[in-house]
Amino acid sequence: MPNTSPTANPLREGLTGRAQPEPCSLVIFGASGDLTHRKLVPALYNLAADGALPPAINVVGFARRDKTDELFRRELGEAARKYSRQPVVDALWESFAASICYHRSEFDNLSGYESLAKLLNELDAARGTCGNRLFYLAAAPDQFEVILENLSRSGLNKPVAGGWSRVIVEKPFGNDLPSARHLNDLVEGVFPEKETYRIDHYLGKETAQNIMVLRFANALFEAMWNARYIDHVQITASEPLGVENRAGYYEKSGALRDMVQNHLLQLLCLTAMEPPTGLDADAIRDEKVKVLRSLRPLEGDDVFRHVIRAQYGAGAINGKRVVAYRDEANVDPESTAETYVALQVNVDNWRWAGVPFFVRVGKRLPKAGTEIAVHFKSVPPVLFKATGEAVDDNVLVIRIQPDEGVSLRMSAKMPGSSLRIEPVKMDFHYGTSFGKATPEAYERLLLDAMSGDPTLFARRDEVEEAWKFVDAIHAAWSTRSDDLAFYSAGTWGPTEAEELIKRHGTTWRRL
Ligand code: BG6
Repeated sequence: MPNTSPTANPLREGLTGRAQPEPCSLVIFGASGDLTHRKLVPALYNLAADGALPPAINVVGFARRDKTDELFRRELGEAARKYSRQPVVDALWESFAASICYHRSEFDNLSGYESLAKLLNELDAARGTCGNRLFYLAAAPDQFEVILENLSRSGLNKPVAGGWSRVIVEKPFGNDLPSARHLNDLVEGVFPEKETYRIDHYLGKETAQNIMVLRFANALFEAMWNARYIDHVQITASEPLGVENRAGYYEKSGALRDMVQNHLLQLLCLTAMEPPTGLDADAIRDEKVKVLRSLRPLEGDDVFRHVIRAQYGAGAINGKRVVAYRDEANVDPESTAETYVALQVNVDNWRWAGVPFFVRVGKRLPKAGTEIAVHFKSVPPVLFKATGEAVDDNVLVIRIQPDEGVSLRMSAKMPGSSLRIEPVKMDFHYGTSFGKATPEAYERLLLDAMSGDPTLFARRDEVEEAWKFVDAIHAAWSTRSDDLAFYSAGTWGPTEAEELIKRHGTTWRRL
């Protein structure tokens, strides 16, 4: 589909992705942290290995600890070897690592930013990075404010020599609506919206991008994508992992803020939105915001009817004993943080009137998997009734991860002289159909930010609308805690969640 927006960057904007990213310096604040090691550097290495990086790039780590460029490169090399999706080839790593350097500074020390500006000018002159700067806020969120302030005071937020200056803000983007607004105001005071890239890494997942293609490039599905034919939708994100070493953050966030406010509502938006007027960033984001505005608010007693929160107890994952959430390191032994949430969401617009979206997410569940399952309505119970054969409903499953793909459950006659109806699956797997591994979300997102394409990043109003919805649930939760359910690690969640979906006459899918 052509990009029809008059304002779109003719080279690369929207989902069309045609141009090379531009030469630039990527400055990572929080360069010693987990995100840099597990995600950002492996993503950059993979882009280098695929020849997808811009012709010139500098990767500058900005952090507090004292270390040399050599040590920093060595640490990142180890991280890349551990977390890269492609095996690291030494020679390639060495050539990529030559673009990496380390800049030591406190986040609140203006002179550290002034010396950064000097370093970036020198790198521009030496390597031809053209004054283009991409600042990645990967530090702890309580540092964002001071970093933004100093970027502004040092003038680093202003483009130099015809280049551009952009900021990528990692999640969590606030922890409720007021804090998200505050952060948005801060960012807005330093970078214009068009240079602001709010990460939601689920949008960078290949299959999340495929939702729009599946819906709008296939006449078959879109014609039936509405309340007339769809009974309900189930969106699941299931993880066997526990809280790991993130208790400090997770105790305050819980599953609703950690996963639903961002990733799962984004998947819901892509599933429910109207066709955009074009593939440019704002056309797509306009449609997603409309979905968020159409969500029926869950407030007061409705929260206890339609939202189930739960926490994992001790249990077993893959045959290995694991402790209860309350016994994890740095977790309050009386914590009420939810590690599981299941909710019924209604999109009150013309297309979706009366179609519930059941959303669930949990840690310490038996299997890793994220999927969207669209359950179609039953056929009229007439023709095959006399045979006594049950006819299963059609279900279209979009597997976001792992084993990315799409399957459609249909009914078929079993071969033989009697009429027996069995469910069968039409199955498309990315791996086998396209024969190549799908890139990691951060690869795509880094590239897009270097290319000036904000389509797969959240806009200010999206983030705020999502918080509005989630905050109302939290407000009800703060009035009591006796609704917190428990489930054993390694099970599919609490029975209360089964009851929730049973009221609609159905059950959760087993992944
Ligand atoms: C992060 C959450 O945003 O997403 C984590 O903070 C979660 O709690 C992770 O584990 C899941 O991401 P992915 O890409 O592994 O599905």
